[in-house]
Amino acid sequence: MLDRTPPEDQIGAFRMLGRLIRDFGRDHIRGYLLSALLLALVALSVTAVAAMLKPVLNGMVAAEKFGQMRAMAFEVVALFVLRGAATFGSMLTLSRIGNRIVATAQRRVFDRLLNQNLMFFQDRHSSEFVARLVIAANGVRDSLQLVVQSGARDLLSIVGLAAVMIYQDPLVAAGAICALPILVFFIRRIITKVKRFAKRSFQGSTQIMQTMSETVLGARIIKAFNLEAEMRERMARSVRTVEGSANRIAAGNGLTALLADTLAGLAIGFAVYYGSWRVSVQHADVGSFVSFLGALLLAYEPAKRLSAFSVNLQNGMVGARLIYEVLDAPLDDAPSMGAPPLQVTEGRITLERARFAYRQGEDVLDGVDLVAEPNQTTALVGPSGGGKSTILGVIQRFFVLSGGRATIDSQDVAAVDLASLRARIAFVSQDVFLFRGTIRDNIALGRIGASEDEIVEAARRANAHDFIMSFAEGYDASVGEQGTQLSGGQRQRIAIARAILKNAPILLLDEPTAALDSESEREVQTALDALRMGRTTMVVAHRLQTIVGADRIYVIEKGRAIESGSHKELVAREGAYCSFFAAQFGLGALRSLA
Ligand SMILES: Nc1ncnc2c1ncn2[C@@H]1O[C@H](COP(=O)(O)OP(=O)(O)OP(=O)(O)O)[C@@H](O)[C@H]1O
Ligand SMILES: [Mg+2]
Repeated sequence: MLDRTPPEDQIGAFRMLGRLIRDFGRDHIRGYLLSALLLALVALSVTAVAAMLKPVLNGMVAAEKFGQMRAMAFEVVALFVLRGAATFGSMLTLSRIGNRIVATAQRRVFDRLLNQNLMFFQDRHSSEFVARLVIAANGVRDSLQLVVQSGARDLLSIVGLAAVMIYQDPLVAAGAICALPILVFFIRRIITKVKRFAKRSFQGSTQIMQTMSETVLGARIIKAFNLEAEMRERMARSVRTVEGSANRIAAGNGLTALLADTLAGLAIGFAVYYGSWRVSVQHADVGSFVSFLGALLLAYEPAKRLSAFSVNLQNGMVGARLIYEVLDAPLDDAPSMGAPPLQVTEGRITLERARFAYRQGEDVLDGVDLVAEPNQTTALVGPSGGGKSTILGVIQRFFVLSGGRATIDSQDVAAVDLASLRARIAFVSQDVFLFRGTIRDNIALGRIGASEDEIVEAARRANAHDFIMSFAEGYDASVGEQGTQLSGGQRQRIAIARAILKNAPILLLDEPTAALDSESEREVQTALDALRMGRTTMVVAHRLQTIVGADRIYVIEKGRAIESGSHKELVAREGAYCSFFAAQFGLGALRSLA
């Protein structure tokens, strides 16, 4: 039923543990040493209790030794108080270190995530990171704690108690100790199972979080499409996985307890039988026998914990591995050390035979050539999926080109300091994202530290001030999770205000007016027109009103710029541009705007 643990897995767990200690435990060596010392005291007091049983018992039998017994009673009390105090101290120290380690692990994982590139995030669900941050970080803490406790308290207790047993009766002690290798043999077989289910349990927990967050964010769609039953089934599946794995892990732990109990029963039974024979038939002293038996019984709990040690360690190492998967993922988006900062003099953007693929072999940009001139608006138009948003992405180095170049004022965006590049670009994305908080908070993110006047001014220019003031709370109105308390057009204008506030020399707008009525669009358009002086504006647009006002238009289709010119020139050419828009608006409308 249980399969064998491959030896390299055992090595892997210990190597991982070594790494954990280096990366997370090293800062707390003093604390760990202190708690190990305290735990050693616990082990010592346990050993002393076992050793004292002999004089106590023999003293009780002999009446003339009664006087010594009072002192001994005090010693017993003192030993137990010592044990309690040491346990208390070590628990306190270990918990504090443990909580610090969780915090450190969480901070490091989060830092690492911040420096990952967009592709890294797009391949994964947000809940997966939440699970790593919460569950896996606890795994790291628990593993380190386990090592200290098992090593210092349980191992030392066993050694001490074994010494007492050997001292009292070497022959029987040898017999009892023989049970240990049998225990180890069986426990190794349980470990593999536990590890597999620990991993499955983590995946299940992640799915629970995924379903939960999608249920909240997609509540409207779930209701509109009557998806309650489907979501319930999804949740039930994940919950079943977690429940099942938790039961299997518990079974693994329980099985070690069962094994330990059985073997302990055999050992103790044998000791009782042999010991009674020694006392009654061979007239050996009762004290030695009871002391031996006491040591054996006291050894039982630490032995049981030690036998579960590897099982629990494997469980914790699954968490450690999940943390390291994030920490070890190569960083593509780290602040490029030593790269020169971007110097924007004019703000001319060029793409030269730019090639890019999200997935190998599927070119999304297939040799794009374009120029966006300073003080002008350059529009990107074309069929959906043509690569327009991708072009805005490569200019900001969200994605790295596989061929060709993207430059700003002749500096390759791939060769400049990343933070300086993004500081010079203000961006409004196709799907507007708002953060938790108020409208003011969301606009203010455009430039941290902007004054109230600047925020209001940006909102005015984005044609957002009036609707904001119509809310009872004005700029303090909450936007809801991901802006759900606002309309699509309101969200868009807040995003535009955020970009305006940034006041960057390059403005990239991905369909900034798509969710606006034509009145609002005209007003936002006027604001954007006013913004173009002194900067470079690149705008992806589907709406004719936005496009007609552009100085230069590029038609992007299948990853290529197939036509360019002003509206007038492109209409006169009667090429792709003309046929693309004539279908929507009619040739007459196109010509009338030319
Ligand atoms: N993160 C991604 N991973 C894989 N493929 C992607 C990703 N983003 C976009 N694509 C693909 O790249 C192609 C171009 O996408 P892009 O978003 O640039 O198009 P677009 O011109 O902006 O379209 P639209 O007008 O609909 O916004 C599409 O075929 C799309 O399926
Ligand atoms: Mg797009």
